[in-house]
Amino acid sequence: MQNPEVFILAIESSCDDTAAAVLKNDKVLSNVVANQLIHNQYGGVVPELASRAHQQNIVPVVDAALKKANIQKEQLSAIAFTQGPGLMGSLLVGSSFAKSLALALNIPLLAINHMQAHVLAHFIDEEGFEKPSFPFLALTISGGHTQIIKVEDYFTMTIIGETTDDAVGEAFDKSAKILGLPYPGGPLIDKYAQLGNPKAFPFTKPKVAGLDFSFSGLKTAILYFIQKKTSENPNFVTENLNDICASIQHTIIEILMNKIKLSVKETGIKQIAIGGGVSANSGIRTTLKETEKKYGWKTYIPKFEYTTDNAAMIGIVGYQKYLSQTFENSNVVSKARIQF
Ligand code: KG4
Ligand code: ZN
Repeated sequence: MQNPEVFILAIESSCDDTAAAVLKNDKVLSNVVANQLIHNQYGGVVPELASRAHQQNIVPVVDAALKKANIQKEQLSAIAFTQGPGLMGSLLVGSSFAKSLALALNIPLLAINHMQAHVLAHFIDEEGFEKPSFPFLALTISGGHTQIIKVEDYFTMTIIGETTDDAVGEAFDKSAKILGLPYPGGPLIDKYAQLGNPKAFPFTKPKVAGLDFSFSGLKTAILYFIQKKTSENPNFVTENLNDICASIQHTIIEILMNKIKLSVKETGIKQIAIGGGVSANSGIRTTLKETEKKYGWKTYIPKFEYTTDNAAMIGIVGYQKYLSQTFENSNVVSKARIQF
């Protein structure tokens, strides 16, 4: 028997992107994201401004997702929304909207864990992208997250390593800020790094036991290094920007790779799937691909639009939960912090 057609409307509003997507089973029909540029002038996300912008964006974003998918509200099978983790004010906008619409349409409500969604984004059916098989290790790296997750099944996941302070995206962005680059500086460090010498300025890597990460020490080391160098030569940063960026990026990649190597050793799992905005980094991509030949690993990098915060990833988890009939009633609460 053929699978019935399931249409899921998914809503993501955990941080500073208001996103909606429509999926037909595991295929994405539309994936709309409204970025909130307002935060750029503050050098980071301002929670109060984020929830206000979500309120303004949510109706037009959902409307655009339905129109783009060419789907009427009445055709929807269920509504999935991000329950957490995230900023409470932001989460509440998405959850209230999802609850009201599910109630009005009399269809099931699906509460989704944002971190599970980053992992399961790899299961969106997309031409040219292979899905990992279980078990695999997921490395989720973004402005808000840095986790290594052992994934044994769709809903059997264990965090085996995570940051004890800054996320890796913050390490990129805060380093960029020290160099006087605009927010978010990660993509700029990547751009300049491609022209520089990664060994020009060695930075000490933090010593963190086990599979956990720490990035705040690196940021401080970079700050002191730049302060010292600019006191000797005020033009140090501009004269050495490419080499500084290449060295910072190289250090961050080494920190990540050392922990992945250790996770592979400890778990015996050689399939690595990465996700989150930092997975756009060209150095990380190249280094990870090299491990396929070097160590016999298999690596997975999803389509970029499914790797930064988006609603299609919420929809694919929604689809799995729909199949297992894991529905919620409208009393379900948003959670700023949740584990799996
Ligand atoms: O997943 P994302 O869009 O949002 C969340 O933080 O949840 O990730 C954004 C982060 C920012 O810190 C940004 O600087 C970083 O991803 N990023 C990069 C690159 N592209 C985005 N970091 C390094 N290299 C890049 N090419
Ligand atoms: Zn995220």
